[in-house]
Amino acid sequence: MNDPGLFQTMYTARALRRFTDQTVSDEVLFQLMDAAIRAPSGQNAQDWRFVIVRDQALKDAMHEWAQTPWLRYQARYADNPDAIDELPRSQRLSLRSVEYLVQHFRETPVVILVCGMRGRHSTPGGSAFPAVQNLLLAAAGLGLSGSVFNFPLSHEDELRERLAIPENNQIYCVLPIGYPQDSHGPLGRKPVKAVVYADQFGQPWDYAEQQGDRGFEDRWI
Ligand SMILES: Cc1cc2nc3c(=O)[nH]c(=O)nc-3n(C[C@H](O)[C@H](O)[C@H](O)COP(=O)(O)O)c2cc1C
Repeated sequence: MNDPGLFQTMYTARALRRFTDQTVSDEVLFQLMDAAIRAPSGQNAQDWRFVIVRDQALKDAMHEWAQTPWLRYQARYADNPDAIDELPRSQRLSLRSVEYLVQHFRETPVVILVCGMRGRHSTPGGSAFPAVQNLLLAAAGLGLSGSVFNFPLSHEDELRERLAIPENNQIYCVLPIGYPQDSHGPLGRKPVKAVVYADQFGQPWDYAEQQGDRGFEDRWI
């Protein structure tokens, strides 16, 4: 298997939301989960729990639940759908890919729900999202893609009931996973200097000020 390397993967792992109909084998899925659980967690508690959803009836239900936030989300464009086409390119493509996933969610090869013990950690989610990122990087490294897509959480009670998720577990996120139709590539991110300060919040970090807006991207891509 051709491993593109950690840094190339970190610099190119996009939230690709359009999947081919290629199935994800148990071996590949196990590799993703096995990489996910290498992540750190508070006190090494490892109280994350993952539910792999492949059952079509469950995916159909999640598909329906995903429509509610989308209707709210795109309400601002409802009167003028062409306004989406007038957005800057990256925003337009991103919105179109969200729209695509909303319309095709039920065809997603695998959906992974990430849960964790409620109230156990001082930083909720802090002990779940390192595993999420490991999983997403592992997916990109193996030629798949995934992203956080929480629209089905709009019907959390129903989701809990259908998946038998106990009350003491919080649902952190929903990850659709599959082989992408599109390619991973450079990411649209603010430069380091825009978000990293030195000693005082808001105080520029001189080294970062001297770097280009794309940072060290060309070392890895
Ligand atoms: C905590 C979290 C919640 C997110 N929720 C959603 C979501 O509900 N729907 C969605 O389409 N994308 C969601 N995303 C994905 C982000 O929109 C995506 O990662 C971001 O736009 C960067 O995309 P890129 O890596 O392709 O540039 C979420 C990401 C995170 C980290």
